[in-house]
Amino acid sequence: MKRWLFIALLPALVLVNVGAHADELLESPSGMIVLDFSMEAGAPRYAVSYDGLPLIEPSELGLRFLDQGLLADGLDISEIYRNRHDETWRPVWGTSSTIRNAYNELVVHLAEPGPPFRRLDLVFRAFDDGVAFRYILPDGQRLTAFTIVSELTRFRFADNCRTWSIPANYDSYEQLYRELHLDELDSANTPITLETPDGIYISLHEADLTDWAGMTLAAIRSEPNTLECDLVPWPDGVKVKGMTPARSPWRTIQIAPSPGGLVESQMILNLNEPCAIEDPGWITPMKYVGIWWGMHVGKETWHLGDRHGATTANTKSYIDFAAERGIGGVLVEGWNTGWDGWGAKDAYDFVTPYPDFDLPAVARYARERGVALIGHHETGGDVPTYEMRLEEAFTLYETLGIRAVKTGYAGGIYPRGHHHHGQWMVRHYRRVVEAAARHGIMLDVHEPIKPTGISRTWPNMMTREGVRGIEYNAWSEGNPPEHTTILPFTRMLAGPLDYTPGIFDLTFNRYKPENRVYSTLANQLALYVVLHSPLQMAADLIENYIDNPAFAFISVVPTTWDETRVIDAVIGDLVCIARRSGEEWFLGCITDEQARTCEVPLYFLEPGRRYLARIFQDAPDADWESNPAALTISEREVGIEDSLTLPLAPGGGAAMSLTPVVR
Ligand code: NOJ
Ligand code: CA
Repeated sequence: MKRWLFIALLPALVLVNVGAHADELLESPSGMIVLDFSMEAGAPRYAVSYDGLPLIEPSELGLRFLDQGLLADGLDISEIYRNRHDETWRPVWGTSSTIRNAYNELVVHLAEPGPPFRRLDLVFRAFDDGVAFRYILPDGQRLTAFTIVSELTRFRFADNCRTWSIPANYDSYEQLYRELHLDELDSANTPITLETPDGIYISLHEADLTDWAGMTLAAIRSEPNTLECDLVPWPDGVKVKGMTPARSPWRTIQIAPSPGGLVESQMILNLNEPCAIEDPGWITPMKYVGIWWGMHVGKETWHLGDRHGATTANTKSYIDFAAERGIGGVLVEGWNTGWDGWGAKDAYDFVTPYPDFDLPAVARYARERGVALIGHHETGGDVPTYEMRLEEAFTLYETLGIRAVKTGYAGGIYPRGHHHHGQWMVRHYRRVVEAAARHGIMLDVHEPIKPTGISRTWPNMMTREGVRGIEYNAWSEGNPPEHTTILPFTRMLAGPLDYTPGIFDLTFNRYKPENRVYSTLANQLALYVVLHSPLQMAADLIENYIDNPAFAFISVVPTTWDETRVIDAVIGDLVCIARRSGEEWFLGCITDEQARTCEVPLYFLEPGRRYLARIFQDAPDADWESNPAALTISEREVGIEDSLTLPLAPGGGAAMSLTPVVR
């Protein structure tokens, strides 16, 4: 596959004369975003403005080491370089088939003027959709083996912004989002989204998280509107261990005049390395069904017994369903021994099937029917055992033609004291991605490290959880209707999410009368467009799909896109997204607990062309609480000049395909 479209190498490496410590300004290509680098008595600072408005006031940069003290002040600038870059590239899958990567870059070399003469490089990039910077500890200096105890990066906002985030947590991203003002916030996981009083939207996150600890944010109480980097610790309390040369992840600040601008930004991917897989042709986005929801609602079990879900016969019926209804894959959980000792050390060996699951026969059947079997490795957090067995486990799947695996890390990490989001686990998750790539295996990681764009480099890293997914509706107080109207502007900015939409029996009273899904059926369909995942689940039991005409939408909706346009967005209230695949457009629109009307001007369609709109929307009497399954399916011909008025029920939505009419 030819993946490079063109690269314009503009005059690079302009060495700048380093005079007195005047501010160094770095403008984005359009000039709208300006990063201001300065030195305050030997301490580096950066500030950011948008269209002349200060967003981030001069903020600290630097690192503190265990034995070698601070590398953050008493520094001189030794050299400054400037570069320009403009390239367009094609991802293997994604929300857009071509991505422009255009930025201006400022590289600042800092050095201690006296012993121990350590050096620190700062790299800043200004894009039209935000700014980013990273630390580089260069080679060939006194500092070789190092231990970082804190990263001093701060984000000193100019105003008391509105924010949407989940609290900082070193092991889980499975929380509901809160809307708070900056001065009410204690801590946050990233990405965190902010809105300034001037209506500018900002997302703080990180890109290319490689061999570093995950970043959380802590509010500095003594300083207004200021967040500080708080890295996830090792068991001994330190944050990052390494050898020079080393570089931190990018600290990213995406900026847009609307929430939709954040969704359309590709800055996180642009800050990652190009694809490392020579021929990624085997990587195939797909929808999947699975032996999964049955366990969560209590119809089936993972472990052996009367209600065991992963039997040969049951899996074959899921394979038949997938083959007949346009679904690419079938996930099977509970196929291997160990579920009786869930969470215990050494519970799973990842290769021994339960006696009622004929793995080779099931794999053969899937191959014959053209369906991808999706394997499952639940580690229960037992990482040492998984690492020991990884090669054998992936080899088994590869031999059987199984090309996708869902992994899981439910529970605390062994050895105890490690966190899911610490450097040790960041290394582990990457080792698994690289091993999977060697075996031609795509990954869906649950209880993961958050996405930071590494799927550009490793496009077999398809999707991951790292979100409070639909499963919470099966066994907790659930996710309120508002949840999915916040996710596109928070968690999804980091990358794809395995939210697992598509529950049709929204109350599942037969199994759990006290639990339910807090949305209408039309809302569930709309999530296939609103939420991006190149492996996208149709999560319900197949018996709930068989006679329901609404499944026609899931059968046709793609999981990778050529173009994405956010039509309307109010964080926490309403989302309307249009995505194109080839010549067809798909539209998803959802609301929170309020009934609303969404006006959809079809300006994105091709001029002069007619389209057949197939609309799946809330029936007039639909309501997530009292009448969730009431759905109307209709068709009409439309063109670019039309505008559709979509009434959305409380907790409701609308999903639509727009197919060019051929006469
Ligand atoms: C938690 C995962 O999120 C879920 O999808 C899976 O079924 C269970 N762990 C068991 O692995
Ligand atoms: Ca709301």
